Amino acid sequence: MTTSPFQEHPENQEPTKKTEDQSPTPPEHFTNPLKETEHSETLDPCILVIFGASGDLTGRKLIPAIYNLMVENQLPPNFVCVGFARREKTNESFRKELEDHIKEFSRTTPDEHELSLFLDKLFYYQSEFQSDEGYEGLNLFLKDLDSKFGTQGNRVFYLSVQPTYFSPIIEQLKKHSLVYDPSSKENFSRVIIEKPFGHDYDSALNLQKDLTKSLGENQIYRIDHYLGKETVQNLLVFRFSNSIFEGLWNNRYVDNIQITVGESIGVEERGAFYENAGLLRDIIQNHLMQLLTLVTMEPPTSLEPDAIRQEKVKVLEAIQHYKPEEIKKYALRGQYAEGFIEGAPVKAYRQEDRVNPKSNVETFAALRLFIDNWRWSGVPIYIRAGKRLPKRSTEIVVSFKKTPNILFFKDKKEKHNVPNQVIFRIQPDEGISIRFHSKVPGSAKVITPVNMDFQYASYFGSEVPEAYERLIYDCILGDNTLFARVDESLHSWRFLTPILQYWDKTPLTDEEFYPSGTWGTSASNSLLKSENRQWKPV
Ligand code: BG6
Repeated sequence: MTTSPFQEHPENQEPTKKTEDQSPTPPEHFTNPLKETEHSETLDPCILVIFGASGDLTGRKLIPAIYNLMVENQLPPNFVCVGFARREKTNESFRKELEDHIKEFSRTTPDEHELSLFLDKLFYYQSEFQSDEGYEGLNLFLKDLDSKFGTQGNRVFYLSVQPTYFSPIIEQLKKHSLVYDPSSKENFSRVIIEKPFGHDYDSALNLQKDLTKSLGENQIYRIDHYLGKETVQNLLVFRFSNSIFEGLWNNRYVDNIQITVGESIGVEERGAFYENAGLLRDIIQNHLMQLLTLVTMEPPTSLEPDAIRQEKVKVLEAIQHYKPEEIKKYALRGQYAEGFIEGAPVKAYRQEDRVNPKSNVETFAALRLFIDNWRWSGVPIYIRAGKRLPKRSTEIVVSFKKTPNILFFKDKKEKHNVPNQVIFRIQPDEGISIRFHSKVPGSAKVITPVNMDFQYASYFGSEVPEAYERLIYDCILGDNTLFARVDESLHSWRFLTPILQYWDKTPLTDEEFYPSGTWGTSASNSLLKSENRQWKPV
């Protein structure tokens, strides 16, 4: 059985109206409908095998997410998880390690009893990624677990490994009959692939060719954890379950759209990865493009995975590609220099561990693009993302056209006439704001912009699940709505690859270095200024 993440609220509850009391407490009678309608009985038994189980992602995100799924009764009753990695470990040492990670990273405080039940479901299997013997042994190991835990031969393989291992691991899984025929009705076998899906357009295409030698598209789950975020899923609900905005969501009323994905952290221990990837591949090709498609796509005809993904692909297809001479004007990059984050001094990118001291890699990018379709033609879309910006903040701002000045702004400076905006705060402080003008009480003619604000935490309580919880749950369920389809990834690469090629061969100039703790290069501000706009302050 599959359920859409966008299913209807069963009771259509009317939440408590806020009048005088604006304190951030959840409405008392609010119950989470998901907990009532989705529970583990709808899930088929299975074994989840994590490749790269000694890695950072497994300890910080995956295992705490799976633990919370168990606590919330969102795992199949017959379920075990196997960590596959190259290091020598026993089940006991693996469990101990993960117990510490759960205690450190779980969003809920672990309960000793539940934690011990969970740890009993964890096993470790040691092998090289390309050893025939290893996979033969794995097959027997999993079959043995099937007979002990009733997992019935169903498999989810999570590839949390370096991208160079994707193809060899999948080839081995196929060779040793660990993945089944895509049309098999008896058992399922699904593979979750972490990003990056390819390095550019050609390599993504080659990877896809490799994968489809062993797997059907319905077995491939390309994860983009942004799609698992509650606030990202809510974009479609906001747009298509409310009638107020949809009529305005087009080039007649919208002046521009801005998307910012800012982080205050630097590249941390991932210098080597960043040297190969850079910001455009790490954040824009996937996370930011997903946000862009959700905020601009047409309404799908149903909530079936492919109906939604089809509309997203149409947006990506309609993005106007740059002419070669436009790249340097509209695709700007930067690299962080030394600076201050929250008052503390931080290193330049070039001084980070495992980074070339003359590195040409971008840690910031700002682009202006157009979607050449009937809805959006002529509306500039400004996107920017960066490391070592002043704060962590992901926001989408839809700015509407200004009113004529004649009534309220005639004698004032143009800057007083600010645009109406719908602001989606994806993280942190998740919520949605609507910005409009109001008269200041008492004074004759003073008008000021004010915000009408919805905050998830105050409305629903602070129980926002981690993105990985939703995505692992969906994969076990067999619902790939929130995973990227191959053509989404390829269209995104097709648009971005010429930019990467241009940047590769063009050394960074002095102006392209920005002090850590600032909002990127001055060119990114000038880009908007030259078009009589500015980035909405975050
Ligand atoms: C990852 C990137 O995909 O997303 C990281 O590789 C980045 O560089 C992270 O820090 C951001 O995720 P989030 O959920 O913290 O916004």
